[in-house]
Amino acid sequence: MKIAFIGSGHVGQALAKLAIKAGHEVTLTNRHGADSLKEIVAGLGPQAKAADLADIADGQDLIVLAVPFNQIKNIDSNLLKGKKVIDASNYFPQRDGQNTDLLTHKIASSQLVANHFHSSEVAKAFNTFGVTNLGSLAKAAGTPDRIVMTVAGNGEVKKIATDLISEIGFQPYDAGSLSESFKVQADGPIFGFQGTLDEITKKIA
Ligand SMILES: NC(=O)c1ccc[n+]([C@@H]2O[C@H](COP(=O)([O-])OP(=O)(O)OC[C@H]3O[C@@H](n4cnc5c(N)ncnc54)[C@H](OP(=O)(O)O)[C@@H]3O)[C@@H](O)[C@H]2O)c1
Repeated sequence: MKIAFIGSGHVGQALAKLAIKAGHEVTLTNRHGADSLKEIVAGLGPQAKAADLADIADGQDLIVLAVPFNQIKNIDSNLLKGKKVIDASNYFPQRDGQNTDLLTHKIASSQLVANHFHSSEVAKAFNTFGVTNLGSLAKAAGTPDRIVMTVAGNGEVKKIATDLISEIGFQPYDAGSLSESFKVQADGPIFGFQGTLDEITKKIA
């Protein structure tokens, strides 16, 4: 699969590394253009390249949003028209500003992201715990007690996200639809959780 990242910081780079290991090709972007990512891409090897944001969607199977939540609204939704998109962002009021609808759970943060990218299919994943040790936590499919990664959404994009979670070394956990993804957002009970399928099932119950 060809996977492009909008945002090539901690999350973009950590996920790109694991996606490459799983056999995928990655494209990294940011606001500063392909040239600014040359060194990072060289470090990732031949399955990685950089692109300008305007070219992000060219030939890509999947786009991962790995930017601060407050930047989502600044990304032109037409760039991702018709694309499958995974939102890895989290809303933190201290960083991203006060939003009453989000703070009162009138709407889930990733539902707001999906509303912005209204011509794309959006799922939420990769957001619930820090990426610092992601590589060392990953375990091959079939290994018992893999660490859970949650996925929320519907349809084909959710299936793609679920498969990708497993391929990069984690146990997928279905957290329902985007509209009910409160449990897995930054103010939800699963945020920061790092455990097995048994443990998350008990926690959610
Ligand atoms: N860090 C974690 O452990 C972690 C774990 C799970 C989820 N998250 C969430 O994932 C998101 C990214 O976190 P991070 O730690 O990876 O942040 P980060 O290290 O600060 O990286 C952010 C990246 O986004 C790019 N960017 C910012 N605004 C952009 C825009 N409008 N268009 C395109 N690119 C843009 C930045 O590059 P330029 O400034 O050069 O454009 C940078 O490459 C956040 O929402 C965070 O809450 C973080």
